[in-house]
Amino acid sequence: MKKMLAMVLAVVLCASVLAGCGSKDNGAKKLTVGTNAEFPPFEYVGDDGQPDGFDVALIKAIGEKMGREVVVENMAFESLVAAVGTKIDVAIAGMTVNDERKQSVDFSENYYEAVQYVIVKKGSDIKTADDLKGKNIGVQIGTTGMFLAEDIENANVKSYNKGLDAVNDLRNDRVDLVIIDKNPAMVFQSKYQDELEIMDGADFDFEKEYYAIACPKGSDIVAEINAAIDSLKQDGTFDKLVQKYIEE
Ligand code: ARG
Repeated sequence: MKKMLAMVLAVVLCASVLAGCGSKDNGAKKLTVGTNAEFPPFEYVGDDGQPDGFDVALIKAIGEKMGREVVVENMAFESLVAAVGTKIDVAIAGMTVNDERKQSVDFSENYYEAVQYVIVKKGSDIKTADDLKGKNIGVQIGTTGMFLAEDIENANVKSYNKGLDAVNDLRNDRVDLVIIDKNPAMVFQSKYQDELEIMDGADFDFEKEYYAIACPKGSDIVAEINAAIDSLKQDGTFDKLVQKYIEE
């Protein structure tokens, strides 16, 4: 009977080990990556319904260098940091490195420089940092744009699940301006060129920001990802992706 039990246990053990290996496809261990595909050109849902964009292409290229098959999970931006190391292995989402996030995750090296932009309706009289005071400001929830807006004197900050929802409320005069990262601001403005104008946050004294990949605290994966980024920079892939997705 004891032997029988031991055998059953052994089978169960083997099965669970195999199940672990089951997450390996073609021998490649999966890398589960969280993003929020509402942030063009870094991440958006492509015509085929799958997440696409610079970040998605970058992390897939990184995965290839690491010999891991990348699986992208599209989720709410504000839930990404907490999900790193539990629901997902890493997060890539045009995510700005900041001290608060650093308490929960380790960041890879920076891979892109950004700044918050201001989107207004054409003909708006918002021109200077002073003009932002007391305004209704649309932002995406949990973003650095939201944190920045919350620091503006008497501002009434409206946060949205998607940056584009904030932009649509701007078009419908439900907010006076939207604060969002430079490249998405450019994409949204180009979508509604006749209606919207963008302004460089540098003119409002907004600080530079840097995007990096969020990894579990203390994990070796940071070094692996950094090595992969370096090698993608060296072999020209990184620049090709910048040209394809951001500068096209
Ligand atoms: N860079 C900003 C931040 O880190 C906004 C990022 C939003 N990204 C997204 N995929 N929705 O907070």
